[in-house]
Amino acid sequence: MSSLVTGSDRPTASHHPEAWVAIAPARVNLIGEHTDYTGGYVLPMAISFSTTATITAANDGKYHFKTSMSAEERTMDPHDRSERIGHWSDYVIGVLRQFQTLNIEPTPFVLELRGDVPLGAGLSSSASVEIATAQAIATFSGKSFMAEALAVLCQRAENQYVGSPCGIMDQFVVAAARAQHALLLNTRDLTYEFLPMNRAALASCRIVVANSMMKHSIADGDYGIRRREVEAGQAIMRNTYPNLRDLGDATLTQLESCRGWMTKESYHRCRHIISENGRVLEAKAAMMCGDPVQLGKVMTLAHASERDDFECSIDEIDFLVETALELPGCYGARLTGGGFGGCTVNLVEAVEAERFSQALQRAYRGRFNLSAETYICAAVDGATVRPASEQTARDSQS
Ligand code: GLA
Repeated sequence: MSSLVTGSDRPTASHHPEAWVAIAPARVNLIGEHTDYTGGYVLPMAISFSTTATITAANDGKYHFKTSMSAEERTMDPHDRSERIGHWSDYVIGVLRQFQTLNIEPTPFVLELRGDVPLGAGLSSSASVEIATAQAIATFSGKSFMAEALAVLCQRAENQYVGSPCGIMDQFVVAAARAQHALLLNTRDLTYEFLPMNRAALASCRIVVANSMMKHSIADGDYGIRRREVEAGQAIMRNTYPNLRDLGDATLTQLESCRGWMTKESYHRCRHIISENGRVLEAKAAMMCGDPVQLGKVMTLAHASERDDFECSIDEIDFLVETALELPGCYGARLTGGGFGGCTVNLVEAVEAERFSQALQRAYRGRFNLSAETYICAAVDGATVRPASEQTARDSQS
């Protein structure tokens, strides 16, 4: 990672502002679920919920962490190396630890977070906090990191400090996204390309996200259990096929030949992942032709695979998907993110998007007596950072 980090463009001390504002978006994944920890493809885009991290110098020799979402602040001595404490600040201190691992010891600061990313909705509130924090700390320390390096640093923070076994997708897209595009990422080598969201007939479609309001957390056990089942299956396949690097290389025929050695669970989890990698590439082809019918079809097939093979859906989400597919203008619908709650992502004709959202909310309330939220989303840019003075000027203009 070090080659992706430079300190060379650090302004001279007298010109280096003391206060910076970093803003990081949320994300929705169009397709490619649970493929990002076995070298597969993902196709997410960034959406306009965001986390803002403001960093300023502290004059008491300490690090201060504050958030608009909690009255509980945290203050820490720069030499403190304590472990996580099960507090919101674990996500930001995990990021700080990664800088310290790289021998970057920031001078004392106050870091304040504000944000509107729905929590526990599978829209990457954690990655948004991590990337905003990382961008703020890096810039405050006079370092410039490429988006790829920031993403890897934040994934490590989450894996090693928070203890949540996530893949790289969320941090990567939050750091590197481009407006009006989805990001096709190969999670084995982190090569990526931007696919336009507005080619041909896709230009008249919208991405509608429906929040079941059933909370999901990847720090909870189900994600880890699935991941272990996948990795057990992958290990068996590698034994049989030594040239296989990971499930990103595997075929369904190879999986069938190994079925007898695997648990039923590992077989089904691997079948989801191998077939999902194929679907991501089909989705790419559909996007490049601007074909919403084909894109919607693959998205809906992906949902069936998550529900039946990966078993990470829940009744509320299945209901949202089934109802969506009955509504006018909907091309495809599926569970997005880690699963076990959270949101669906729907591809919908723009002219129907409002009516679609309202009808979905009505049906959900009728069935579960719960209020689903819906968000009509545009694809936005990844994280940015600028001097606080510049941000204040922008805010006052808008
Ligand atoms: C969560 C994780 C990601 C990815 C998805 C499932 O969002 O953070 O790394 O594994 O679940 O695709």
